[in-house]
Amino acid sequence: MYVVLLGLPGAGKGTQAQRLKQATGLAHISSGDLFRENIGKGTDLGKRAKEYVDGGLLVPDEITIGMILDRIARPDCAGGFMLDGFPRNTGQAEALDTALTGSGRAIDRTLYIKVGKEDLVNRLAGRWTCTGCGAVYHEVNHPPKQPGVCDNCGAALSQREDDRADVVRKRIEIQFENLEPLLEYYRRQGKLSEVDGARDAEAVTADLLRLIAE
Ligand code: AP5
Ligand code: MG
Ligand code: ZN
Repeated sequence: MYVVLLGLPGAGKGTQAQRLKQATGLAHISSGDLFRENIGKGTDLGKRAKEYVDGGLLVPDEITIGMILDRIARPDCAGGFMLDGFPRNTGQAEALDTALTGSGRAIDRTLYIKVGKEDLVNRLAGRWTCTGCGAVYHEVNHPPKQPGVCDNCGAALSQREDDRADVVRKRIEIQFENLEPLLEYYRRQGKLSEVDGARDAEAVTADLLRLIAE
C-alpha cells in the first residue's frame, strides 16, 4: 500500500501518520522531518535547505525530489509507505509517479485531511514536538501528562523554529496556492479521498483507516 497524506500546515499529517503507522505498520516518510534531521546534523543537504525551511518557503524541487526518491528506495519502504508533506506541487507528484512506475509501483491512495485556515494558526502556535521520538503534542488539544516531557519516551519537548506566527502565515499561504492543483492531479487519477480533519484526532484516524482498508 502506497499512500500520500495531503493537508495544509497543521492539518494533522504528522499526528495521523504516527497513529496510522501503529495500526498498519506502513513506513512514515515526512519530508519536513527529513529536512529538520539534515539541518540538525549539518549535512550538505541540510545546509542547502535551511534558509527555505526557516523562512517557511518551499525547498527547491531539485533538492526535495532526490531526497524523497532516495528515501523511498530503502528496504523499509518495500512493504508500503505513507508520504507526509510530499508531493507538495504537481511537479513533485509527476516525478514521484515516474519513479514509482520505474520500480513497478504506484500510489494507491491520496488522503486529504481538510482543516480550515482559521484553525491552523492555533494548532501550530500550541504545538510541541518530542526531541527523542518525534511524538506531537498540543498545549490545549493534546497536552503531555507533565509539561515539557514526552509521555512515550521521557525526552524534552521543543517548539519548531518555523512555528513563529509570521512564518506560519507564509507557510499556509504558499501551500494553499499549491494545494488545489495537487488535489486536481490526484482527483483526475481517481485516487483522491477527503476527510474532515477538524474533529478529534481519533475520529480522523478511524476514517483514514477505513479508506486505507477499502
Ligand atoms: P513540514 O514539516 O511538512 O510542515 P507542514 O507541511 O507545514 O506541516 P506541519 O508539520 O506543520 O503540520 P502537520 O500537518 O504535520 O500537523 P501536526 O500533526 O504536527 O514542512 C516543513 C518545511 O519543510 C516546509 O515549510 C518547507 O520549507 C519544507 N518542505 C517540506 N516538504 C517539502 C516539499 N515537498 N517541497 C518543498 N519544501 C518542503 O499537527 C499540528 C498541531 O495540531 C499539533 O500540535 C497537534 O497536536 C495538533 N492537532 C493535530 N490533529 C489535531 C486534531 N484532530 N484536533 C486538534 N489538534 C490537532
Ligand atoms: Mg508535520
Ligand atoms: Zn518522545
